Amino acid sequence: MSSLVRFGGRLAGRLRSVTRPQAVVLMVILALCAGVWWSAGTGHQGLALSLVAGLLLAVLLGILHLSRWIGGVHRANQHAHREIRTVVEQMQRRVVATVEKERLTAGDRHQELTRTITRGLRQSGHGTDLLLRAQSREIEALVQLFQHFTPRAPMPSSGDFALNPTDLLELLHLVRLRRPGLVVELGSGTSTVWLAYALEQHGGKLVSLDHDADYARQTRTMLTAHGLTAVAEVRDAPLRELTANGTAYQWYDVDKLTDLTGIDLLLVDGPPAATGPDARYPALSVLAKRLAGTATVVLDDANRQDEREAVRRWTAEVPGLTEEQRLLGRHAVLSYSRTGTPVTV
Ligand SMILES: C[S@@+](CC[C@H](N)C(=O)[O-])C[C@H]1O[C@@H](n2cnc3c(N)ncnc32)[C@H](O)[C@@H]1O
Repeated sequence: MSSLVRFGGRLAGRLRSVTRPQAVVLMVILALCAGVWWSAGTGHQGLALSLVAGLLLAVLLGILHLSRWIGGVHRANQHAHREIRTVVEQMQRRVVATVEKERLTAGDRHQELTRTITRGLRQSGHGTDLLLRAQSREIEALVQLFQHFTPRAPMPSSGDFALNPTDLLELLHLVRLRRPGLVVELGSGTSTVWLAYALEQHGGKLVSLDHDADYARQTRTMLTAHGLTAVAEVRDAPLRELTANGTAYQWYDVDKLTDLTGIDLLLVDGPPAATGPDARYPALSVLAKRLAGTATVVLDDANRQDEREAVRRWTAEVPGLTEEQRLLGRHAVLSYSRTGTPVTV
């Protein structure tokens, strides 16, 4: 009984979801069935047979319609399937192409990185090699420097702003050979102490100018510690505007130089490059007339562009000034002769 009720419920559910054309077909079949039942019951066999034939025809047409509908659904399914397959294949191709492109780019990047690392390693190796060689040169120069003097106090450090041991070595070699009576230094520091020791040994005086009062004081303190104040003096010479060959520069106060004549050795190691372009160029515009008949000019940092240009202009503008062959270090040595006869030693 309960299964009959469930069947009835399912049937009622299906009947509720039928479309209008399906309801019409259902009504016609029901009417034909009712007609067959009635005509057979009332003895109208001919009518009953005709209605049965009509019923069969309707069923046949229904089956035909159903098979065509199923065929259409099948074809639509196949079409949709083909479209999905095309879309999937296109996506696959795109994914493969993207992965391949990324792989090639990553390969290129890897190669570039490898080349950069290799180049960096080679350069750092070369840099270390150069540094080691430079260090060896400076150590050799330092050993030679201390063979000539026994300092009476700890020597200030060379390097940084100070002259390198190789530069000091050649400078003191020039002092030993040329025996300058008056040395003028532009820019005081470690070199002042070394020069003062050399002049103490060979005779001569040193006047060092410093634009910075603190550094001047430090150098004076070192000279006192080494007992060299009788040989060397440090003068405060703050920077002032100075016009040389029509150009304005910041250079040492020239009033601090008025008593200096007959300079035998001029060391140009200031003002620092940071004070302005071509900072050291005015040195000879001011001091050429204060040089002795034969004199030596040493310019430190001659490997820098501004200093190379200063040497070029000095030798072109000051008659009797010529650049000497370089021996050691990074400075330029120039000899001056008022009569035009170059310094021979
Ligand atoms: C090239 S330094 C002179 C160095 C000196 N002739 C020597 O060999 O020690 C030129 C000027 O720079 C300044 N100076 C020296 N040491 C410095 C430092 N460590 N930092 C900044 N300026 C410095 C001083 O005023 C000095 O006169």
